Amino acid sequence: MAFLRASFGFMFMVLLSSTTISIAHPGFPFTWGNVGGSGGGYFSLFPEFYQFSCPQANDIVMTVLEKAIAKEPRMAASLLRLHFHDCFVQGCDASVLLDDSSKITSEKRSNPNKNSIRGFDVIDEIKAQLEAACPQTVSCADILALAARGSTVLSGGPNWELPLGRRDSKTASLSGSNNNIPPPNSTIQNLITLFNRQGLDEIDLVALSGSHTIGVARCVSFRQRLYNQNGNNQPDETLERGYFYGLKSVCPKSRGDNIISPLDFTSPAKFDNTYFKLIMWGKGLLNSDEVLLTGNGGNTKTTELVKSYAEDEGLFFNQFAKSMVKMGNISPLTGYSGEVRKNCRLVN
Ligand code: HEM
Repeated sequence: MAFLRASFGFMFMVLLSSTTISIAHPGFPFTWGNVGGSGGGYFSLFPEFYQFSCPQANDIVMTVLEKAIAKEPRMAASLLRLHFHDCFVQGCDASVLLDDSSKITSEKRSNPNKNSIRGFDVIDEIKAQLEAACPQTVSCADILALAARGSTVLSGGPNWELPLGRRDSKTASLSGSNNNIPPPNSTIQNLITLFNRQGLDEIDLVALSGSHTIGVARCVSFRQRLYNQNGNNQPDETLERGYFYGLKSVCPKSRGDNIISPLDFTSPAKFDNTYFKLIMWGKGLLNSDEVLLTGNGGNTKTTELVKSYAEDEGLFFNQFAKSMVKMGNISPLTGYSGEVRKNCRLVN
């Protein structure tokens, strides 16, 4: 099998070097079976996918991002999250971008997304510019992956080689969005289970949670910790006192659901490892952040990971990059499956 794969790889290398640009779609190389998970297609993603068909794709994405993030630094966080909410629901297929229509029940209405997920206008702007430069070539799913990487880099985080060639779904899944994206009051076991379901492990869970080094959360996402953590009208005792009082002053017991607080209050627009340091100090905002350290009595693999990333930013950056590639590989549509949407909000 390994030999077969190697010889096919070689054959296609020869093909690639001896043919012209016309074979840029659908992408090579061919692989046996399904690399990304349960999604359709027999082609794996690879970084040079648009090398011939739209070599300027990443430059276009970066130019739009630079402007959008300069105008509003939080946009980087919102776009990074969009890729996560896409990949956890029927794979990285841009299903999250679809609006309601006669055939589509939009994921934008799910519990994790409503009044929360954002960045769609920036994706539209990127798509419009890509359609002008390379019509019907760059998928919305790849735009989300490129925007997530670009947003990380522009916020001071790591860069990575990004496999491309995802195609766009013709469906969305509201129930998938409700069931697969972890809620903020998750237990550590719940987080591990939901990540495992996507082929991601504890290392990915902790590294990717490091995304909470940028961006904000609404009061409704952390209120329970302030007023009624365990159904006994008491706050979460792992919260550092000063931080707890600060949060209470901006997040009332009732009303004010949409009042926002930074996930990393020391540097909310800078991608760094302070998120992990804050957790060590009892200053992580969400319950799902805190339980990485103290869940299961502090006896999980995740506890040690939080400590090591708090101590070593390089280690975190390295793993974050790897885990982003892994997340970006969840069940992509490739080859002839799905389509390349003309408008990211609508099926063609
Ligand atoms: C581990 C499980 C996770 C949970 C429970 C979780 C939950 C949340 C919640 C509740 C918010 C605030 C939403 C709001 O209040 O409107 C949020 C924000 C955010 N999440 Fe996560 N998240 C998780 C993992 C991830 C992952 C894997 C990524 C990216 C790879 C990510 C990236 C972000 C970003 C960047 C923000 C800020 C968004 C903004 O400011 O617009 N999260 N998350």
